Amino acid sequence: MLERHVTLHAGEKVLIRQLVPEDVALYPDFLSEVTSDDLRLRFFAPMREVSPEMIDKLIHYDPAHAMAFIAIEETTAKMLGVVRLHDDPNDESAEFAILVRSRLKGHGLGWLLMKHMIAFAKEKGLKIVRGEVLAENLSMLLMCSELGFHAHDDPDEHGVKRVELILDEVPHEAVH
Ligand SMILES: CC(C)(COP(=O)(O)OP(=O)(O)OC[C@H]1O[C@@H](n2cnc3c(N)ncnc32)[C@H](O)[C@@H]1OP(=O)(O)O)[C@@H](O)C(=O)NCCC(=O)NCCS
Repeated sequence: MLERHVTLHAGEKVLIRQLVPEDVALYPDFLSEVTSDDLRLRFFAPMREVSPEMIDKLIHYDPAHAMAFIAIEETTAKMLGVVRLHDDPNDESAEFAILVRSRLKGHGLGWLLMKHMIAFAKEKGLKIVRGEVLAENLSMLLMCSELGFHAHDDPDEHGVKRVELILDEVPHEAVH
């Protein structure tokens, strides 16, 4: 369940597996091919690069309350993307965030990482997966809608949509 082999639209073979601390070595090359615009869509703040402190935080998550999956290209061993899921301490829900290497956008990896994360959340027994998406991020909002998420305006943050997936509504076959 924690690992799966997938093939992208252009034929790239990719392993999706749990992110481990040693993957810190893959981040500089990965982030060197993530545009500042994509960083802003992911972190909601203008940034030209991700600080070493931030990378450290992203790598050292607590597996009791969070999970992160990394996508590795099998032929080159390069990091192509990452999706994470952090439990909400108040209920049986969790919040996701996702980032794909910019030159690979549109190859189907984001979709596969989202499905993998949703399958994991279902198996973990969570009830709801939530996310925050900038209202301008139309391709992400479309993908979320195709995956069954409902979207509404964030009452606290202008220009932000909250997306929410009720996991009971997702058939097992849809994410396996
Ligand atoms: C948003 C993001 C994760 C999408 O990843 P991606 O790999 O480019 O997405 P995919 O190639 O899997 O999907 C692209 C398209 O195909 C669709 N799609 C992909 N695979 C599909 C499948 N098997 N069946 C049906 N639809 C599919 C998606 O709806 C989407 O539509 P669009 O490109 O026409 O808008 C990526 O662009 C990214 O990292 N962006 C910057 C960070 C960000 O925006 N994060 C979201 C906020 S946390």
